[in-house]
Amino acid sequence: MGEFDTIDRTSSNAEKYTLRQKLFGTEAVQPMWVADMDIATPSCVIAAVQERLNHPIIGYEIMPESAFEAQMAWVSEHHTFLIRREWLSYSPSVVASIGCAIRALSEEGDEVIVMDPVYPPFYSMVKENNRRLIIHPLRQDKEGVYRFDIEVLRTQITDKTKLLLLCSPHNPVGRVWNRDELSVLGSLCLEYGIVIISDEIHSDIVFQPHSHIPMASLSEALLNNTVTLMGPGKTFNMAGFSISTVCIPSEELRSLYNEEYHRVHWGDGAALSHVAFEAAYKNGSPWHQRLIEHLNRNAQLIEEWAAKHPSICYFRPEGTYLAWLGCRALGLGDRELRDFFVQKAGLGLSPGLSFGKEGSGFMRLNFAVPTPVLTQALEQLGQALND
Ligand SMILES: Cc1ncc(COP(=O)(O)O)c(C=O)c1O
Repeated sequence: MGEFDTIDRTSSNAEKYTLRQKLFGTEAVQPMWVADMDIATPSCVIAAVQERLNHPIIGYEIMPESAFEAQMAWVSEHHTFLIRREWLSYSPSVVASIGCAIRALSEEGDEVIVMDPVYPPFYSMVKENNRRLIIHPLRQDKEGVYRFDIEVLRTQITDKTKLLLLCSPHNPVGRVWNRDELSVLGSLCLEYGIVIISDEIHSDIVFQPHSHIPMASLSEALLNNTVTLMGPGKTFNMAGFSISTVCIPSEELRSLYNEEYHRVHWGDGAALSHVAFEAAYKNGSPWHQRLIEHLNRNAQLIEEWAAKHPSICYFRPEGTYLAWLGCRALGLGDRELRDFFVQKAGLGLSPGLSFGKEGSGFMRLNFAVPTPVLTQALEQLGQALND
């Protein structure tokens, strides 16, 4: 079997498949929604976990220094960002880290800036922790490139605005924010004393000529004003290991975060996850390169398909394996649009509206699938559009 061939996931409790009936009202859809890949986790990760299972006790374990060092080496090599060990801590989930950082670094009633559209838990983490949302709309420029508007953002800030939740690279619009954009945004946050929580979970899924720049790597001031969230979940398709890290260079912010972290008592994580994490960052680079080639081919296929289907607007993602399909020309309401994809095209996508108001009229397609699966999906969608 080839590395990126089709694998049956219906027997493994995969959320993407198990929740089809609940989400789409039918099992008869190709699910292309939640952001994991229908692609095997790299064999170096599986082999390391299998090897660990030769030891018969899976007790409490601490996350080994070698695991943190493997991630530090990866980030230094791939993103030229030098992380010191004491800045890092374990987290079971990037979303949980967002919640923890929000509680640690702001008070109830404070305001948190979120860009719309964005990964839905950005909104819920703010609301469920009793903070207030400042929603900044991302808009497409004439070339279809999503941008934030720094002058509009400036007018939205008040003296209650304490945090910015940044999604970098951006899910769902696929932007890899460039140095100029990050600098302008970073400067604004420094000017108003707004701490940046930078979710960089998609940082390793980036296509040439773009490259990911960690917000914290831009300057000493931003290093000390940013909480960076990273993990191997997207990169190596290992979300099921529930392991990521939080990087806080500022001693002051780190100690506030640690107080909250200890209140939650996450502990040190799971033995098999530590092993998987280390193996991925240490040995996963060749696989990762092949993955990017595979995803790039799939992105290209969608681009070629979209050129023949002008009713769908497609901006090729600079990063992430998520295609943000503009469907407004179809003239359907959001519910009808979702029904059209399910009933006419047999596809289970994420509705754009679930990412915020600006996502109305869009659908998000996860193209981290074997190429024949994508080809078939595009054929079904093309057929539905023609009908
Ligand atoms: C931007 C972003 N952050 C976080 C997550 C989830 O991270 P975790 O599973 O570690 O909570 C996702 C998953 O799709 C995501 O897209």
